[in-house]
Formats: sequence, C-alpha cells, structure tokens
Amino acid sequence: MGVPGKILCVLMLLLHSSIQQQVFNDEETLHLPANYTISWMETLDDQKLISDITLPGTHESLALHGGFIAECQAWSLEDQLKAGIRFFDFRVVPLGKKLLIMHGPVYQSATLKNALKTIKTFLSKYKSETVLVRVKPVLFLKNKVPLLVENMAKNDPDCWTEETIPNIGQVRGKIVFVQKNAVRLGIRLYETDRHNDYIVTNVEKKIIIIINHLNDTAYEQYRAGWVVLNYSSGTGIPRLSLTINPKSLAKQINPWLYKHLNNESKKTNPKPCFGVIAMDFPGLDLIKKVTEFN
Ligand SMILES: *[C@@H]1O[C@H](CO)[C@@H](O)[C@H](O)[C@H]1NC(C)=O
Ligand SMILES: *[C@@H]1O[C@H](CO)[C@@H](O)[C@H](O)[C@H]1NC(C)=O
Ligand SMILES: *[C@@H]1O[C@H](CO)[C@@H](O)[C@H](O)[C@H]1NC(C)=O
Ligand SMILES: *[C@@H]1O[C@H](CO)[C@@H](O)[C@H](O)[C@H]1NC(C)=O
Repeated sequence: MGVPGKILCVLMLLLHSSIQQQVFNDEETLHLPANYTISWMETLDDQKLISDITLPGTHESLALHGGFIAECQAWSLEDQLKAGIRFFDFRVVPLGKKLLIMHGPVYQSATLKNALKTIKTFLSKYKSETVLVRVKPVLFLKNKVPLLVENMAKNDPDCWTEETIPNIGQVRGKIVFVQKNAVRLGIRLYETDRHNDYIVTNVEKKIIIIINHLNDTAYEQYRAGWVVLNYSSGTGIPRLSLTINPKSLAKQINPWLYKHLNNESKKTNPKPCFGVIAMDFPGLDLIKKVTEFN
C-alpha cells in the first residue's frame, strides 16, 4: 500500500472511531440514538444521597455565543438535558428584576427565569430525574443577585432550597439549588478547583490537576454534607495563550477523561464516586460513561 493509501486508511480509522465514540461534541444539533436512555436516574435507588451520585454537568452551561474565546458548549439547554446533563452552572448579571445569563462580558441571550422554565418543562416530562443548578453572580451588582434568585425559587415546590442534602427519592422531578458564597440557597458545594486551576497553558499539567481532583473526591471525606464539583474545563486565554481555548482544550481533555473514567470504572472496592463533573463540549459517550458510575 502506497503512502496515499496509508493516509486514507488512517483517515478512515479516525472517522470510524469518531462514529463509534462521541466524547467531544461541538455540533449544535443533538443526534440522539433511538434507544438512548434519557431518564438515566430512573434506576437509582431512592435512598441514594445526591452527594453520592456521580453526575455529568456542564461548566458555563449556556456559553453558546461569543466566538471561540467565550463558547464552552454547543447544545441548547434542552438538548443538554436530553443528553443526560444534570448539573448546570449559570453566571448571571441583574437587569431590573431579570437575571441575564453571561459568559464574561458576553450576554448569552438567555435569562435565569427562562432557563429554570426549560428545566421544569423537561422535569415534568421526565419525572424520575433531578437537576442541580448553581447560580453565580458575575461582573457587577452582585449583591442584588441573592434576593432575585430567592424570589424566583424559595417558595417554589419544584425547587429544593434547603441546605440538607436530600436523597434522590425526595427530589425527583425537582430542581436542587446548589450554593457557594454569594447565593445562600440550597445544598453546599465544595469546589475542587483551586484558584486559577481553570487557566491552562499546558494540557499535561491540566491532566495531572484533574487526576488529583478526581482522586480526592473519590476517596476522601469531602462528600459528607457537600456536593463536590469537579471541572474538566479550562482555558489559556487569561494568559493570552489563544491556542488553548475552551474548545481546543475539551477536544484534547475529553478523550483523555473518557479513558481515565473507563479505567476508574473498573475499580470496585470501593466503587469511586466523583460527584459532579463539569465539562465543556461533552459528547454522548462521555456523558454516558459518567452516569455509569452509579
Ligand atoms: C442501541 O443501538 C445501538 C445500535 O443499534 C446498539 O449498538 C446499542 O447496543 C444499543 N444500546 C442499547 C442500550 O440498547
Ligand atoms: C472533584 O473534586 C474532588 C474533591 O476535592 C477531587 O478530589 C477530585 O479530584 C475532583 N475531580 C476532578 C476531575 O477534578
Ligand atoms: C489517591 O488518593 C489516595 C488516598 O488519599 C492515595 O493513596 C493515592 O496515592 C492517590 N492516587 C493518586 C493517583 O494520586
Ligand atoms: C488506562 O489503563 C491502561 C492500562 O492500564 C493504561 O495503559 C492507560 O494509560 C490508562 N489510560 C488513562 C487515560 O489513564
């Protein structure tokens, strides 16, 4: 076989493996296989605490606009829900009584109210599921955010806003708020990311950070009373390293994360639990791999 033949062969192999396994996705349209299990939480034991579930999330969940510097996700909120994502991270700025969803300075053409509505519509159809929501004030008027969020959620029977960690049986069909610093509503969040871990200038170093984070979650005592959040996302942009942006990093990290989780999933005694893994541009097979820890 000549060189062109070999190249063709490699290309076909690459194409083949990308069809077989979708771990990174930047296509806007969700192609859900006909037999895909949307209600993956249905089989979870009702007694299982939310903090003991390994669940797939997205980082900057609605960062869909603004070019390669700002974009972290490709699918709409509704499609992320269908794909199995159960943790959302919304960064907001107040405007009157509204909370606008932002990524950095870029308005993402969405409000928190609409986002919650989309989630509720999904939950009214898929009643076995639970969705975790974290609201983070960014930029300015941050002190106005807690009250606005409280007004939206506090007396809503479809929202869990207590600090006690519920078991899944208590919150099926509901939104569970997750709190950290600013917004004191819902269960407490322990973020494994240390200051600036999100800034990535070297993919190998990022991999070591993720391994360490995952390892702590899996075997240490952090999880008692907290839901633990791990990020696989990152960017080099704050260090002016434009070649490492959220998408280019996810393209490299997601296949690695898939293999890493695949290895971890073989451990049985004890079976690891990674809490929430917040990702950028996850593909269906990576999402499924995360859910398979339960
Ligand atoms: C779904 O269908 C695909 C293609 O026919 C098959 O390979 C896969 O095993 C099926 N998955 C389940 C969970 O039935
Ligand atoms: C998730 O957070 C836990 C808690 O600190 C940490 O031990 C674990 O390594 C994190 N996982 C990832 C992928 O960052
Ligand atoms: C993971 O954590 C355990 C317990 O703290 C430790 O013994 C082990 O060496 C760690 N593994 C890695 C790969 O860091
Ligand atoms: C998974 O395990 C295999 C076999 O032990 C190892 O060669 C590979 O490097 C591991 N992959 C990751 C991403 O940890």
